[in-house]
Amino acid sequence: MSLSRRILDILIVSLFWGSLCSDICFGVESDIYCLRRIKASLEDPFGYLNSSWNFNNNTEGFICRFTGIECWHPDESKVLNIHLRDMGLKGPFPMGIENCTSLTGLDLSSNKLYGTIPSNISDVVHFVTSLDLSSNNFSGTIPANLSNCSYLNDLLLDHNRLSGQIPPELGLLARIKKFSVSNNLLIGPVPNFGNKDIKADSYANNPGLCGGPLEPCQSHTITG
Ligand SMILES: *[C@@H]1O[C@H](CO)[C@@H](O)[C@H](O)[C@H]1NC(C)=O
Ligand SMILES: *[C@@H]1O[C@H](CO)[C@@H](O)[C@H](O)[C@H]1NC(C)=O
Ligand SMILES: *[C@@H]1O[C@H](CO)[C@@H](O)[C@H](O)[C@H]1NC(C)=O
Ligand SMILES: *[C@@H]1O[C@H](CO)[C@@H](O)[C@H](O)[C@H]1NC(C)=O
Ligand SMILES: *[C@@H]1O[C@H](CO)[C@@H](O)[C@H](O)[C@H]1NC(C)=O
Ligand SMILES: *[C@@H]1O[C@H](CO)[C@@H](O)[C@H](O)[C@H]1NC(C)=O
Ligand SMILES: *[C@@H]1O[C@H](CO)[C@@H](O)[C@H](O)[C@H]1NC(C)=O
Repeated sequence: MSLSRRILDILIVSLFWGSLCSDICFGVESDIYCLRRIKASLEDPFGYLNSSWNFNNNTEGFICRFTGIECWHPDESKVLNIHLRDMGLKGPFPMGIENCTSLTGLDLSSNKLYGTIPSNISDVVHFVTSLDLSSNNFSGTIPANLSNCSYLNDLLLDHNRLSGQIPPELGLLARIKKFSVSNNLLIGPVPNFGNKDIKADSYANNPGLCGGPLEPCQSHTITG
């Protein structure tokens, strides 16, 4: 009798956890889906993701042992940071990142990513304190929507082919400490970061930036 009672208890407990998980484990499922989408959307010529990102081994927190993945807790598949620097990865910005909903840091630097930075970037990486897209092949304009990534401390977009003007709204990033857009194709006034110490180096090697730590901007009206 007592044995079947125990089995019944275990059954009840596992049913309880099963239904609980269907609620709280949703975020975790989303993070696994995030990494599946990232892997599927990028060319990986050196096989870094192919050899490490194995979705068949479904042990608890298995994605936390993937190359470049750091979780909030090693046994819980909730992604804290993604570091995929210098892996030869090729493709457009991996939109799957929108499903890693607790991400605080993203480093995709020194790869071969191309196309535009998503215009809804703040919906994709809303909580990041660090965003490093430097040394890729991103083109188009810098989205003003980055100004809604209000936790950003570090924003590195240098060594790409970004063009047009830098959105003045970026000056609203209250926590910014490191900012670089050097080595792009940018023109026009740099954002006003108030009393933050953003140096001329951050803007070097662009065809026409002015203001802030650089030369004052010329007036557009031609007089005389
Ligand atoms: C992934 O993110 C998109 C955009 O936020 C959302 O519509 C979709 O439901 C998410 N999918 C999963 C499985 O979380
Ligand atoms: C991916 O890895 C498997 C073995 O883990 C290997 O057989 C396959 O060739 C690899 N594919 C690529 C594109 O590197
Ligand atoms: C699954 O992952 C765990 C933890 O990384 C590891 O110990 C185990 O050997 C893996 N199993 C298989 C079949 O790869
Ligand atoms: C920019 O960000 C805000 C807030 O994060 C969002 O509501 C808005 O839709 C975004 N704009 C675009 C163009 O996607
Ligand atoms: C961002 O915009 C893309 C289309 O450009 C869309 O597919 C995606 O669902 C949007 N993501 C979020 C989180 O709004
Ligand atoms: C960057 O993109 C341009 C044009 O799309 C292409 O000609 C160039 O080879 C790319 N550079 C790299 C390093 O992928
Ligand atoms: C996004 O940022 C703009 C300023 O760039 C601001 O006016 C707007 O209220 C912000 N939206 C949200 C939802 O925070």
